[in-house]
Amino acid sequence: MIKKLVNQLFLLLSLLFTLTTGYAQEGAPDLDAGKTLFRNNCGQCHARDMKSNLTGPALGGVEGRWADYPKEDLYSWIRNSQGMINAGHPKAVELWNEWKPTVMNAFQQLTDQEIANILAYIDGVYTGTYGAKTDVAGGAAVATEAPPTDNTPMLIALAFVLVILAIALARIVSNLNYMVKLQNAAPGDELPHRKTLVEILTSKGVIAFVVFSLVVLGGYTTVNNAIMMGRQQGYQPEQPIKFSHATHAGLQQIDCQYCHDGARRSKHSVIPAANTCMNCHAAIKVGSQYGTAEISKIYASIGFDPSTDTYIENYDQLSESQIEQIFKKWFADSYILEKGLLDDKGDELIETQWEDLKASLTNETKSKIQGPIEWVRIHNLPDHAYFNHAQHVTVGQLECQTCHGPVEAMEEVYQYSPLSMGWCINCHRQTEVKFADNEYYKSYERYHKELANGERDKVTVEDVGGLECQKCHY
Ligand code: HEC
Ligand code: HEC
Ligand code: HEC
Ligand code: HEC
Ligand code: HEC
Ligand code: HEC
Repeated sequence: MIKKLVNQLFLLLSLLFTLTTGYAQEGAPDLDAGKTLFRNNCGQCHARDMKSNLTGPALGGVEGRWADYPKEDLYSWIRNSQGMINAGHPKAVELWNEWKPTVMNAFQQLTDQEIANILAYIDGVYTGTYGAKTDVAGGAAVATEAPPTDNTPMLIALAFVLVILAIALARIVSNLNYMVKLQNAAPGDELPHRKTLVEILTSKGVIAFVVFSLVVLGGYTTVNNAIMMGRQQGYQPEQPIKFSHATHAGLQQIDCQYCHDGARRSKHSVIPAANTCMNCHAAIKVGSQYGTAEISKIYASIGFDPSTDTYIENYDQLSESQIEQIFKKWFADSYILEKGLLDDKGDELIETQWEDLKASLTNETKSKIQGPIEWVRIHNLPDHAYFNHAQHVTVGQLECQTCHGPVEAMEEVYQYSPLSMGWCINCHRQTEVKFADNEYYKSYERYHKELANGERDKVTVEDVGGLECQKCHY
């Protein structure tokens, strides 16, 4: 009887253990994570002091302002404010009337936990409890890599407490056992043996519990790591040229598709070749930020001599020292033009600019300066997944920013979305396809009929087959 009880207790404990380890990842809101999310997603429109209005309203105290509605409403607002405005939600409509025509971006990829983190961070800054670390209001959003959340210490502490608990319980049960035996013992019987702590610790029940817990913990971390492997939300590598989207797509308002013209008509968006840069930089040869240092890398890659404004013949055959001569002359001339003479500082500058140019255009696998600029790839789906830009940009009529975030505000591009399967699926479940007047959907007669006679009010990507495995997997 008691043995059964012991076993059940251990089972219960194991279950408790599994549950708590499983929940540890969802835990209390993480203000630091919220800060990173806020800075990367919200900071360019909402002031960082949470008290002043910017492009969007001050967010301090926002949960209070939404207190009349269920918590999910505020979450849906953040995920898709326009959807809520269109649906006529009173609070959403009120906000829109005050702030239109400025549209807030949709953030469908944010999980409940992430939104909770952002809201906690907003509240922390607003109430001053997250005080010392706040930033000044305004300014371009600075991208920071999301710090990996590490809950190992917590897990260890938890495991420790559970083990102590298990031992204590085992001890109690063992004592009970002993007492029962003592009671049942007939007079004259040999006194029952009372178990020592070592015996308890090495008993089957305790060992089974420890093994079971280890298996659960191991399995949990392995699966988790396997899923996270290869994913790199927030990834922001340093690029060979300090190319800024904030300058080009933001300040200069160059259309994304001017450079990424593949997005409209093919699977890939394509990184522009140096020729595209030359459309402008054949004329813009000295930048206001880095002078000759960065723009010259375009020339050295493609073989353009900025001193003579000509493309160099047989550039591919030139030796490194010949290239060095051409560009050191260009650096020197520009320096003299600016300063009137070439002093020691000038010599030093020319040397560092040349060394940096060489390092940027070569790497372990590319020994020559000549040839395409090797940008570091940021977004990368695994080979077994199929993604097509034209399908989303041309057919789906989605903005680049829906998936890539506020690129026009990024000095350096980072991966904005998780690129996980859940991310694709979620959007396919939620997004209505632009069904009316879209040639692509002409063949879906049934949906057109149902829409016409009011049987359905929308068609989502899911409805047109967007959740079928083979659409996304080879
Ligand atoms: C492109 C600018 C922009 C970005 C980026 C942006 N917002 Fe907004 N936000 C607005 C505007 C504008 C409004 C006012 C309503 C409207 O015009 O749609 C607003 C309103 C809100 C409101 C309602 C405020 C209230 O007083 O009830 C919340 C909450 C909110 N935003 C949260 C966020 C969060 C969280 C993020 C980042 C994940 C974010 N916003 C990113 C522009 C933006
Ligand atoms: C003047 C040309 C130019 C314009 C305009 C431009 N880009 Fe880019 N884009 C580049 C170059 C060059 C790179 C590679 C270097 C880098 O990552 O910064 C790049 C990289 C990217 C990447 C990362 C690619 C990867 O490696 O995964 C994304 C996403 C992107 N651009 C989106 C956009 C969006 C969205 C816009 C419009 C808001 C835009 N770009 C406008 C030139 C441009
Ligand atoms: C449509 C015109 C246009 C195109 C195309 C273009 N740029 Fe620019 N770029 C500009 C302008 C304008 C500036 C701002 C110049 C300044 O800072 O004075 C600039 C600035 C820069 C700077 C900063 C220079 C500095 O020192 O401040 C770099 C680096 C740069 N571009 C690289 C590139 C690269 C690489 C490409 C091709 C992928 C490219 N640009 C394509 C117009 C363009
Ligand atoms: C529906 C989401 C979505 C939209 C909308 C979207 N992209 Fe992408 N983009 C992705 C994904 C996913 C990848 C990774 C693709 C891969 O690894 O095969 C990617 C990759 C890229 C790359 C890296 C090169 C490549 O093609 O793999 C660039 C550049 C890029 N996108 C630019 C853009 C531009 C510019 C737009 C708007 C015209 C845009 N994207 C619209 C999801 C999107
Ligand atoms: C922001 C929303 C969004 C995200 C994120 C997104 N999609 Fe889509 N997707 C759409 C829309 C809208 C369409 C509708 C266009 C169409 O019908 O072809 C679509 C269509 C598709 C289709 C064609 C479906 C069909 O039945 O014709 C495929 C395949 C696809 N997406 C793959 C992906 C993959 C893979 C990812 C993740 C890497 C992804 N999508 C992420 C919005 C999204
Ligand atoms: C809308 C596109 C889409 C659909 C539909 C889809 N997948 Fe995926 N799937 C992906 C993407 C993208 C990844 C890569 C995720 C990553 O790198 O983390 C993936 C990854 C996977 C993985 C690897 C494990 C993982 O999470 O990385 C498996 C297994 C898988 N999918 C099975 C399926 C099955 C089974 C179905 C049908 C029920 C399906 N997928 C439908 C886009 C899709």
